[in-house]
Amino acid sequence: MKIAVVGTGYVGLVTGTCLSESGHHVTCVDVDEKKIATLREGGIPIYEPGLEELVRRNARERRLAFTTSLAAAMRDTEVVFIAVGTPPGETGEADLTHVLTAAEQVGRAIERYTVVVNKSTVPVGSCERVREVVARSARAEFDVVSNPEFLKEGSAVDDFMRPDRVVVGVASERARQVMADLYQPFVRTEQPILFMDPRSAELTKYAANAMLATRISFMNDVAALCERLGCDVDQVRRGMGSDRRIGYPFLFPGVGFGGSCFPKDVRAVMTMARQLGLDFDLLRAVERVNERQKRLLFDKAVKHFGALAGKRCALWGLAFKPKTDDMREAPALTLAQLLAGAGAEVVAHDPVAAEVARPLLGPHVRLAGEPYAAAEGADALFLVTEWNEFRAPDYERLGQIMRGKVLFDGRNVWDAARARAAGFTYFGVGRPAA
Ligand code: UDX
Repeated sequence: MKIAVVGTGYVGLVTGTCLSESGHHVTCVDVDEKKIATLREGGIPIYEPGLEELVRRNARERRLAFTTSLAAAMRDTEVVFIAVGTPPGETGEADLTHVLTAAEQVGRAIERYTVVVNKSTVPVGSCERVREVVARSARAEFDVVSNPEFLKEGSAVDDFMRPDRVVVGVASERARQVMADLYQPFVRTEQPILFMDPRSAELTKYAANAMLATRISFMNDVAALCERLGCDVDQVRRGMGSDRRIGYPFLFPGVGFGGSCFPKDVRAVMTMARQLGLDFDLLRAVERVNERQKRLLFDKAVKHFGALAGKRCALWGLAFKPKTDDMREAPALTLAQLLAGAGAEVVAHDPVAAEVARPLLGPHVRLAGEPYAAAEGADALFLVTEWNEFRAPDYERLGQIMRGKVLFDGRNVWDAARARAAGFTYFGVGRPAA
């Protein structure tokens, strides 16, 4: 098939590249000339494991191309994906400006039957709005379908290649067949394509993200209970997750959820509900718990040290989660700002996100090129993002180079017993005190 993808952000670039990998001819379009130039040279504008090799190979084998001209990309195209950004608008609901602009341009370029696929996360009813906009100028028949994306940053390629499911909201049989053919290489009996009406597909994405965010805030509250009751949240989590109705994933307490999706989607669902006269109180609590959780390590540090002025604090990890350089709503930003605001000296290291983080952290936070260089002379070390290289630290070495011996493990990845045996005061999240 010949496919065009509008928008080369996370979703668009992964979608286009993975579809070309399955043999389709894909042209990715973006208004950002610099981005397109980088992609044409075989570089990628984001950090995503495995993606760069796929881009290069498929470009070399002429199944994947990049352009700034939407009209050129859409010549003879059967399917066009709209995968442009939907930042939160003033009310908290997703801003559809980019989506509708793309829809308008797509409409002008349609000259044969085309399936227009909405990949961006959009409010319920957007499919219909896109259809109206495309209809103004399309010169041939078309269908608009909703196909929300569930990929996770850091494992986006794998998530696309082996999805748990593909959700397609579609009203026409013809478009349904096109989408079935398109996704055939990626689905299995247990990981099916779920066809449904477009509005339900649009809500599915929001509801899934809001549910996952709820699980995390729930566990962060369970962790707070554990700390007060002297329980171990790791054990409680295992005990809960083994119930098949609950399951293990997304039950890890930590420093709060961040990223481009959960915070924004939780707010979007609340806004949607409010506009309909409903109160989604549960999500208000999810958000409140998350705000508290982003302060958790700071509050623990204040409790331990009293005043933080003059204390040197080392941060391991800045990105909102490992395997990405994404700093959007990263809990590390809150922590660094609170520490610096209290007069502490903050030195941070992140294996990938340092450059993206630098302008966001401000002048009071120093960056170190290496984890132990960040810890040098520190009174306390904070683990914020659980990158693999931080999981098994050399406690002896840390003991020698740090000024104080205090560890705040925001992800419960360190061995508390070993850390304590090496002379450290250890604080986790929902783990028992020594
Ligand atoms: C999420 C959804 O998982 C994905 O389906 C959707 O398409 C986009 O949003 P992503 O933002 O890439 O993906 O990250 P994810 O791995 O889901 O993690 C989100 C946040 O939750 C991170 O800050 C992470 O640290 C936190 N988290 C996750 C926890 O605190 N505990 C957990 O158990 C899991």
